[in-house]
Amino acid sequence: MRVIIHENYTDASAWTARHIARRINTFNPSAERPFVLGLPTGSSPVAVYREMVQLFNEKKVSFRHVVTFNMDEYAGLPADHPQSYHFFMQQHLFRHVDISPGHINIPDGTADNLDEECRRYEEKIHAAGGIHLFLGGMGSDGHIAFNEPGSSLSSRTRVKTLCEETRIANARFFENDPGLVPETALSVGVGTVMDADEVVLIVTGNTKAQALRQCVEGGVSHMCTASMLQVHKQAVIVCDDAAADKLKVRTVRYFKDIEREAIAMKEF
Ligand code: GLP
Repeated sequence: MRVIIHENYTDASAWTARHIARRINTFNPSAERPFVLGLPTGSSPVAVYREMVQLFNEKKVSFRHVVTFNMDEYAGLPADHPQSYHFFMQQHLFRHVDISPGHINIPDGTADNLDEECRRYEEKIHAAGGIHLFLGGMGSDGHIAFNEPGSSLSSRTRVKTLCEETRIANARFFENDPGLVPETALSVGVGTVMDADEVVLIVTGNTKAQALRQCVEGGVSHMCTASMLQVHKQAVIVCDDAAADKLKVRTVRYFKDIEREAIAMKEF
C-alpha cells in the first residue's frame, strides 16, 4: 500500500486527478478497449472531479472511451433527486466532460428488485472486463463505498444498512436531519473493490484521522473495511496532513521520504 501525504486537500485532489488522467492516457483507450473507471461520491472526490474537468477542458484527457461504475447509490432515491448519487455525478463530473451516457453505470436505487439489481451490476462489471482503477473515499468509521464496519471483506454488490455514524455524517446533505438519510443503500462489496487492478483512496481532513490510522497502521479488520487495501496488489492512499495527524511520526516520515518524488510531481 502506498501512502502519499500532501499538505492539503487541494494538492491531494490535484495529484489524484492527474494520476487518473495519466492512467487513462497511458492505457490509450479505444472504442474496442475502453478504460474502466470506478468512482465514488461524497465530499472527498469533489475537488478531484473539478480538476478532472479542468484537465478535460485543457484537452489533457478525454472520457470518450472511458466506462464508469459508481460505488453506490441510496435505496429509494430516483436519479433526479438532488441527493442521489446519480444527480451528484452529473453535477460534478459527467455533464462537464465528453463521456457517453451509455458508458455510465450507477446502481439503480429505485429498481423493483434491489437484490437483482445488485446481481446485475456485478455481472455488468464482469462483462466490462473488470475495473482498471477504482477511486474511492473513506467514511469516518473506515468504510469504503457503503461497506460499514462488520461487512464481509469478500462481499459483492448488495443492499447495505447504513450505520448511525454514517447517517449522521451524511445528514449534512439532508437538511441536517439523520432521519432523512435513507436507511439502506446499494453498494459494491469490498471484494468488488479488491478485484480492481488499482485502488486509489482520497482521504482528507481530521475527521478521517482515526480511521486512516486504523487503515494504515492497524491490522486488516472488517471493523475498518478500507484496511483490506493492505492486501491489495496496487493500492494508493492519497491524503493530507490533517488526515495523517494520528499516524505515528515515523510512519509519516517513512511515507513522505519514499514518496518524495511522487509528491513533488506537479507537471501533468
Ligand atoms: C459515503 C459514501 C462513501 C464515501 C463516504 C465518505 O458514505 N458511500 O463512498 O467515501 O461517504 O464521504 P465524504 O467524502 O463526504 O467524507
